[in-house]
Amino acid sequence: MIERLCVKIPDYPEPGVLFRDLTPLFGDGPGFNRTVQALAEAFEGQFDCVAGVEARGFLLAGGIAHAAGCGVLPIRKEGKLPRETYRQPYQLEYGTATLEVHTDALPRGTRVLVVDDLLATGGTLEASGHLLHQAGLHIAGFGLVMELTDLRGRAKLGGHRVRALYRL
Ligand code: PRP
Ligand code: ADE
Repeated sequence: MIERLCVKIPDYPEPGVLFRDLTPLFGDGPGFNRTVQALAEAFEGQFDCVAGVEARGFLLAGGIAHAAGCGVLPIRKEGKLPRETYRQPYQLEYGTATLEVHTDALPRGTRVLVVDDLLATGGTLEASGHLLHQAGLHIAGFGLVMELTDLRGRAKLGGHRVRALYRL
């Protein structure tokens, strides 16, 4: 179902990148529901809050948190959070960016599951992990819909539990 509802776009957002668009999966009721349930079940009992990485991770985080009865933590691109933040620059498959979290987002030691749609080079989730560490939070694991194994992003997330629903 994940592969069927993923559209491949060559040379987006720049030449040489094969972009995997999962918005058709998110727009499909059974597809989105099964995706959210599978990620919630993979980490059942192991997290107190779900962090979503802007922007596509937000969609998943809301669904998983609702299924698990917990709250959400936004990990945002720079300049979007209104209070004091930790910030972490990083590289991804197509460029560079900076992510931020509020310094007082959650009580220290809170177990946080980090979710996103896709793991490519791992720069985005590695940066997210650094931010949670700075904020004194415990990383319960990383949950993805899709992993592009050729790009070896998992190696950047050493020591943490990583669950991708579809690996290719
Ligand atoms: C995409 C994707 C992941 C990231 C993965 O987000 O949603 O967050 O790239 O790439 P990496 O493993 O190489 O770091 P993007 O930065 O394009 O942001 P968007 O969701 O705001 O479009
Ligand atoms: N983020 C980084 N690389 C990507 C890709 N190939 N498709 C979709 N999102 C991505």
